[in-house]
Amino acid sequence: MNKQDQNQPSWADEEHNSSANPDFQSVLGARMARRSLLRGALGGVSSAMLGGFALTACGSGGDDNSPAPAPAPVPKLQKLGFSAVPKSTADAVSVPAGYTATVLFALGDPLTAAATAYKNDGSDGDFDNRAGDHHDGMEYLGLSADGKPDPKSSDRALLVMNHEATSHAGSERASAFVHVNGGTNTLPRPAAETDREVPLHGLSVVEIRRGGGTFSYLKDSSFNRRITPLTPVVLSGAAAGHALMKTRYSSTGVAARGTLNNCGTGLTPWGTVLTGEENWSGYFFRSATDDAARGNDKSVAALKRYGRSQGAASRHGWETSGADDKYQRWDISKKGASADGSDDYRNEMNTFGYLVEVDGYSKTAAVKKRTSLGRFAHESAAFSALVVGKPLAVYMGDDSRGEYIYKWVSEAVWSAADANPADRIATGDKYLDKGRLYVAKFNADGSGEWIELSINNALIKAASAYAFADQADVVVNARLAADAVGATKMDRPEWCATHPTSGEVYFTLTNNSNRKVEPTGSQMVVDAANPRSYSDSYAGGAAGSPGNVNGHILRVAETGGEAAATSFKWDVYLFAAEAEADASKVNLSSLTADQDMSSPDGLWFSKATGICWIQTDDGAYTDKTNCMMLAGIPGKVGDGAKKTLSYTRKDGSVMTVDTYIGKAPTADTLKRFLVGPVDCELTGCCETPDGKALFVNIQHPGETISSATIGNPDKFLSHWPGNAGYGAGGAKARPRSATIVITKSDGGVIGS
Ligand code: FEO
Ligand code: CA
Ligand code: CA
Ligand code: CA
Repeated sequence: MNKQDQNQPSWADEEHNSSANPDFQSVLGARMARRSLLRGALGGVSSAMLGGFALTACGSGGDDNSPAPAPAPVPKLQKLGFSAVPKSTADAVSVPAGYTATVLFALGDPLTAAATAYKNDGSDGDFDNRAGDHHDGMEYLGLSADGKPDPKSSDRALLVMNHEATSHAGSERASAFVHVNGGTNTLPRPAAETDREVPLHGLSVVEIRRGGGTFSYLKDSSFNRRITPLTPVVLSGAAAGHALMKTRYSSTGVAARGTLNNCGTGLTPWGTVLTGEENWSGYFFRSATDDAARGNDKSVAALKRYGRSQGAASRHGWETSGADDKYQRWDISKKGASADGSDDYRNEMNTFGYLVEVDGYSKTAAVKKRTSLGRFAHESAAFSALVVGKPLAVYMGDDSRGEYIYKWVSEAVWSAADANPADRIATGDKYLDKGRLYVAKFNADGSGEWIELSINNALIKAASAYAFADQADVVVNARLAADAVGATKMDRPEWCATHPTSGEVYFTLTNNSNRKVEPTGSQMVVDAANPRSYSDSYAGGAAGSPGNVNGHILRVAETGGEAAATSFKWDVYLFAAEAEADASKVNLSSLTADQDMSSPDGLWFSKATGICWIQTDDGAYTDKTNCMMLAGIPGKVGDGAKKTLSYTRKDGSVMTVDTYIGKAPTADTLKRFLVGPVDCELTGCCETPDGKALFVNIQHPGETISSATIGNPDKFLSHWPGNAGYGAGGAKARPRSATIVITKSDGGVIGS
């Protein structure tokens, strides 16, 4: 859950970056010559470069003696083969003619043989045994007919998906739809309500099988599993066992309880799933006198930078539900007498904010928080193209206004044998615990650099805002370290994804109401990589406050195509805009009515077709259309042109900003594919390896709900998917987040 920031609830997407980092970089040198990763036609890409879990041949038994990697499928789609879906405000899912969208797995659906059908009237409990809420990032893990890992299988699989949050009005504490009477918004929160809300969060692992041309999920599969904010997890990497991680739960700082606000995902090359912990900070309460209780030590600066100034209220008030540790852990005030925090939960928030590795195939494998990759509001994780004998990179965004883009480079070099290992989590230890963490700086000349966040960096050692002790301190407080090295403040980095043949990495920058021509306070001035600031009055809408209203998608080409490169070239693949907007200032990618969009967020490339799937989470264009999903066939960094934007300041003076815009899409290379129901967000996307089924998550339809109106279904903004015939409730149903599966009536490949 994470709406357009103009109307966001108070706990989401907060801005805490008060650093003085430049967001307009001086021209440092000539634009770097592009060294293309592509050596020629798409077919010239080596299979070694593209090797990896999803592309690797595998015996049906999923044993360790798998054959050599199969030839990499080459994205073959040059032209989108469907008719664009019009914008829509209907409370329904729209897909192109010739396609079918079927609801597969919705909030509350049972995940055990014993769990009952979801009544969807607020009386269902036991969410440990049911689908959680707010379906988000999702990955497809193939299974052979006899239930072994088989990445090539298009008939049987596990979906591993995030349940990010739960629907509630911004100022209310209760998740209205899961309580009969909408729940209790005053404190203390009843324990029974908290016990119901906590396991709405986390992940589901659910088995699906193809039959009769489409998929259904298996209620009683032995693979089915929930991971919640109470599931035991292991802290791994640089911060494991560090003083910053000690809590009453783990006095040695090596373990933590659960995962929270899981947003985007990433499929590792060895077949596990990385899940990103995003807006976790808002769940914690901190007393109004905690600065003094902490002796105003350096933890105060860190808490403030991560959104928890003293007196911060928690999103749900779970800390008020009782004396049990499972409630008290949500109160991060210093209460104990210990020097190290092992007698309270003052350090509990340091155990959240990571990419967390989950082995969907194994209920016994450890769930590990990969602390070396940094602590921030994680979205997805995109792996670099794999090259045997070279390190691998993981790209990451931190979603908050003015936060940064990061990269991890493994110390270990890629071994093809690791595409199908006996112990997947041990393989994660190999690539995700030891390496280097970098943050991006975007230069005005279209180049960029990766700056290492190392305790040995002189700027980090000398930082005045925070005294870093060691590398664990750097990764736990990555935002402060990135501030110290002058990283570029971005327009809310959401998902990132790697182009399957070029290896270029795409980042959605969803919007930024604080991007200005003449900023005040901690607002940001327009710069080359975040060049737009405008108000959206052009189509008869209210002008609102100027900023980057609609967002953009930026892409990066590493120097030499090397994952470990410390420099890159960038341009903007697409500027999101309404089609009617001024083409010289706003609609810079010349989007038509079949292509226009606002607030790109989810981003994912199909390996079967090479389609770039773009999903929106918007509040600026929702007067004309619900959130949507588009298919794009992008080119490459540098295929467009430099553009100079001109702004007039209040005193009449003119400022100009150069930016770099990718080649404008055509009617064949960018089209709207899907529009979701009212008040939803599209997020999470994966496919069968044959490309004939696409799985998509519809998050929080009708989320804008007040507990006071729970008894009046006519006031719900959405009744989906009940109104589409799924589950109980019919046309008056409480809305539910859900996974849908999209197939083509002729059985063909999606998008072709
Ligand atoms: Fe969960 Fe920033 O999206
Ligand atoms: Ca968003
Ligand atoms: Ca998102
Ligand atoms: Ca508008």
